[in-house]
Amino acid sequence: MDQANILRQLAVQERETRDAMPKEIPTVHKNRTCIASITSGKGGVGKTNIVANLAFLLAGMRKKTLVLDADCGLANIDLILGLTPQYNLYHILKGEKTLKETLINGPGGIKILPSSSGIQEMATLTMTQKLALQDAMNTLQVRPDYLLIDTSAGISENVMYFNMVAKETIVVVTPEPTSLTDAYALIKVLYQRHAKKRFRLLVNMVKTQQEATEVFRRLAQATDHFLNLAIENLGHIVYDENLPSAVKQQKLLAELYPQSPSIKCLREVAKKLCQSSSEQEDDGVMSFFN
Ligand SMILES: Nc1ncnc2c1ncn2[C@@H]1O[C@H](COP(=O)(O)OP(=O)(O)OP(=O)(O)O)[C@@H](O)[C@H]1O
Ligand SMILES: [Mg+2]
Repeated sequence: MDQANILRQLAVQERETRDAMPKEIPTVHKNRTCIASITSGKGGVGKTNIVANLAFLLAGMRKKTLVLDADCGLANIDLILGLTPQYNLYHILKGEKTLKETLINGPGGIKILPSSSGIQEMATLTMTQKLALQDAMNTLQVRPDYLLIDTSAGISENVMYFNMVAKETIVVVTPEPTSLTDAYALIKVLYQRHAKKRFRLLVNMVKTQQEATEVFRRLAQATDHFLNLAIENLGHIVYDENLPSAVKQQKLLAELYPQSPSIKCLREVAKKLCQSSSEQEDDGVMSFFN
C-alpha cells in the first residue's frame, strides 16, 4: 500500500470511529442545577415564605429541590416549617459535620440546609468559609434540579455573595415605597459593583395584578433610566390572610391549603421559573458546583 492509500485508510478508520461514538457523552452530573436566590433590599417582604412554598410546589412538579437558608445570622426557614434541625451550616463550615449529616427532609420531599441564628461569625462569611460551603455542595451525589437560596435583606457581603452564585436573582418587593427604593439600591450595587445583569422582580402582598404591574413599571423605569438596565417581571403574589395563620401553625400554606390565592399565584411563578431556567445562559459569576 502506498503512502496516499495508507492515509486514505486512516481517514476512513477515523471517520468510522467518530461515527460510532455516542452523540452525547453521559456525564455523572448531566443535569445542571438552576440556582435561584430569593432576595430583597427591605426586610420582611416575604422571602422565606416564598422560598419554602416555592420549593414545595417545585417538588410537586417532580423537581428535586434543595433549600439553602442563607440568612446566616438570623436563620428561620426551619421555624416556619416546624422543624428542629440538630446541625446546620455553621457545623459544616467548622468542619464538624458533613453536608449529608446536616441536610434535613422537609414537606413534599424537599431538602433543607438550615443555618444558624445569633452566631456573629456567620454574619460575614470569610473566603475559607465560602470555599468550605462550595466543597460541601460538591459532595452531593445527586444534584438537585433547583437550589433555592433564601438570603437576608439588604446589601451585606453575604447577600452579595449568595446573589453572585445564583443564576436567577429573584428580587422580592411589596408595594411599599421603601421596599421599592431598597430593591433599587440592591440591584444597583449588584449591577455596578458585581456585574450582575439579570434580575427578575416578584411583587408580593398586592391586592390586584394591576397593582403589581404598576410596581414593576415603576422599578423597571428607574433601573432603565438611571442604570440603563432592563429587569424582568416574574409575577406577583396577592396578599393572603391565610398565610400568617399557616406561619403560626408552622405549616406550609401550599401544603395546608393548596388552593389559597397566594399559592395559586406562586404556582404560576414556579411554572415560569421552570420554563425559563433551561433557556438562560449562566449569569452566576461563580457557581457552587465545580
Ligand atoms: N402574600 C402574603 N400575604 C400575607 N402575608 C404575607 C405574605 N407574604 C408574606 N407575608 C407575611 O409577612 C411576614 C414576613 O414574611 P417573611 O418572614 O417570609 O419575610 P422575609 O422577607 O423572609 O423577612 P426577613 O427579611 O426578615 O428574612 C410574615 O409574617 C408573613 O406571614
Ligand atoms: Mg426571611
